[in-house]
Amino acid sequence: MFRIGRILLFVFLLSGLLATSFVSEAQKKGPLRPSEPMLKLIENNLKQACSQYKILKGRLPAGRFPKTYFIRTGRMETGEPDAWTSGFYPGTLMYLYQFSKDTSLSNEALQRMKLLEKNADRKDAYDLGFLMYNSYGNAQRLLPSPEYAALLQNSARALAADFNAKVGAIRSRETGKWQFPVTTDGLANLELLFWAARSGGDPALEKIAITHANTTLLNQFRPDYSSYDVVDYDTTNGQVVSRKTARGYADTSAWSRGQAWGLYGFTMLYRFTRDSRYLDQAVHIADFISGNPHLPVDKIPYWDFNAPPFPVPLRDASSAAIMCSALLELCGYTDPKKGQEYVAVAEQIIRSLSFDPYKALVGENGGFLLKHSVGNMPARIEVDVPETYADYYFVEAMMRYRQLGEKRSW
Ligand code: GLY
Repeated sequence: MFRIGRILLFVFLLSGLLATSFVSEAQKKGPLRPSEPMLKLIENNLKQACSQYKILKGRLPAGRFPKTYFIRTGRMETGEPDAWTSGFYPGTLMYLYQFSKDTSLSNEALQRMKLLEKNADRKDAYDLGFLMYNSYGNAQRLLPSPEYAALLQNSARALAADFNAKVGAIRSRETGKWQFPVTTDGLANLELLFWAARSGGDPALEKIAITHANTTLLNQFRPDYSSYDVVDYDTTNGQVVSRKTARGYADTSAWSRGQAWGLYGFTMLYRFTRDSRYLDQAVHIADFISGNPHLPVDKIPYWDFNAPPFPVPLRDASSAAIMCSALLELCGYTDPKKGQEYVAVAEQIIRSLSFDPYKALVGENGGFLLKHSVGNMPARIEVDVPETYADYYFVEAMMRYRQLGEKRSW
């Protein structure tokens, strides 16, 4: 299976090399130059994704959201509307609607999203950005409505209610083990707060987002710009209690999805604030990832950068997809040379994810686009499976690539 994938990849790389010797229309658009073969590949991927998501829609029980699929048993695992992953399916459908203008995709997204409404008033608002912004945020961007705007404003207030001023951060997860845990995932959730503050909401939401980002910047990163998975705080004095892992190989290791969230988060923070500290941090994280000796040549990371080499660790397509999408935003903020380097890594990720063993054929994989992600290795939950969030960031990355060299709208 891997051998066929490698042959296809070689043929594709060769055709890419030949094609780039001509200056295409796309290349004239701007300094970041999307390549014509990549655009063709992406066009094909997105067309297939529309077909594949119709299959997923057909298999999905009422009232549920896709989480993952087990190839051996043919069982799809679905989530309740309050699962942190439930915003990704409607969000992916909205991107595919943006691509295809196929209203059967947006209708399904909007229909399914209604089930998420009650999250806007939740008290335990962990990951509400993923849940509400990736769904309703995309709906509001493409088909704006006062109803979606109100839901997003309520969701932002609910997320901000978990902010602790002593710690200077929003609580990340609820378990008995921690006093006040903060993870790098929390950075991606902040986009909801910026959107709300900049769309007529309370300006304090933005201050909370910035405070959370600064606390994460101060305490979550190591000198090499890798990050700890969880930093636990003492709520009486705001001091760090411990730096641990919940989902990585070790407390001191670089859990791949955590690194991806850090990159995605600080890139997005720079978009809203133009604060050079955030840009510097994003660049450092990008360089940690792309220059890492443990990053395989196809640029799909192992599930943890420090996972022991034997047996060969599993890859995590979800981390690759998140990194790819982030790099395709970051490339527009750095000098063109650096930007080109990031585009080259992102292109490699898209190429790798576009073929076997990662991308499923239409009709396979229960309707999910990508295979081979790792949800939570230490807990042995969702190991080497499709993940709804891997599909979301893969599609987002491809949509971003199509906008390279153009005025971008995200
Ligand atoms: N909650 C985000 C993640 O698990 O990656």
